[in-house]
Amino acid sequence: MNTETLIQREVPLQNLNSFGIAACAERFVHVQSLEQLRSIRQLVLGSDDLLNLQRFVLGGGSNVILPDRLPQLVLQMAILGRELIQETNDHYIVRAGAGENWHAFVEWTLQQGYPGLENLSLIPGTVGAAPIQNIGAYGAEMQDHFLSLTAFHFESGEIKTFSKKECAFAYRDSVFKSVSPNPYLILDVSFALPKLWYPSINYGDVALRLKDMGVTKAQPIDVSRAIVAIRQSKLPDPTIIGNAGSFFKNPIVSCAVKNRILESFPTCVSYPQTDGRYKLAAGWLIEQCGWKGRDCGAVGVYEKQALVLVNRGGATGEAVRAVANRIQSDVFDRFAVQLEIEPVFI
Ligand code: EPU
Repeated sequence: MNTETLIQREVPLQNLNSFGIAACAERFVHVQSLEQLRSIRQLVLGSDDLLNLQRFVLGGGSNVILPDRLPQLVLQMAILGRELIQETNDHYIVRAGAGENWHAFVEWTLQQGYPGLENLSLIPGTVGAAPIQNIGAYGAEMQDHFLSLTAFHFESGEIKTFSKKECAFAYRDSVFKSVSPNPYLILDVSFALPKLWYPSINYGDVALRLKDMGVTKAQPIDVSRAIVAIRQSKLPDPTIIGNAGSFFKNPIVSCAVKNRILESFPTCVSYPQTDGRYKLAAGWLIEQCGWKGRDCGAVGVYEKQALVLVNRGGATGEAVRAVANRIQSDVFDRFAVQLEIEPVFI
């Protein structure tokens, strides 16, 4: 196989990133199998030109902010497949290819009767990207039912299986996000889904939504439907309004900092953590600074959720960074709390 057939030139990425930035990849590969990945590696090793290029791995593009042009070799992970690989007394063990759409995978597990991922319904992105930032919502995180993943180490060509411990999951974080550049390409992810299931509906308005839906004894599919409805009412649909979900992490602060803020701002929203610290609602902090619903040229702050930056049309990565920095500095000036950006700027 030669470079021309495998590596495409000047590929527009606007439809491959949820923020809808009109980026362009100078060299792009759509990776559909491990065999293909091995061929690409051979090509790269055999060409000084390609060997000197940095590589950038694109998943569903829902947690990245791209520049106008990407000189890197862009590898879009599109390996498909989902299957039950084992059934134990307590669990269904399922595996999905990195390129599977996350929400379609969650729906598939629920249709098969494998519960556990319902609180993570409708999160944009792919299965392979889910462990990188340990996606989470409505009281659940991907790590809760994560079993293991396999990844390809590009330099050595070796395949490594990562246990949960080795992934070092944390709030919107993992070893794959914290080590830069990440040398691994995730191939597939396995989950252990529980046979004994209890609904987790105490977060926010999930229980209320189920009540409104007339559900008295919630099944996994009901929880999923409630969460889909809540997300649709609060968060912009990336196929209509470009966005990357929450743009900042909810900051975790000491009890003293939380108390200091509460003294001056008694309505500040905070959640106690198991280690005695407090998670502050970044959306609330940003809203207090007058940013909710505000537009700065092509970049705006969503009118229904101040934690979400949106593309009003023609946003560039640079413009997004400028607005994010202004929000960070306003929040810092007012509350002396540093907001951490959640998506990755390339
Ligand atoms: N709030 C405001 N103003 C706003 C937005 C929120 O005051 O403009 C307040 C709300 O009233 C609420 C609190 O902030 O009391 C929390 O808001 P919400 O329940 O909407 O959740 P969040 O903390 O803003 C987090 C996740 C979301 C996830 C939701 C639901 C992070 C960074 N974000 O948002 O995840 O869907 O909880 O579990 O942890 C994502 O990561 O992309 C994402 C969307």
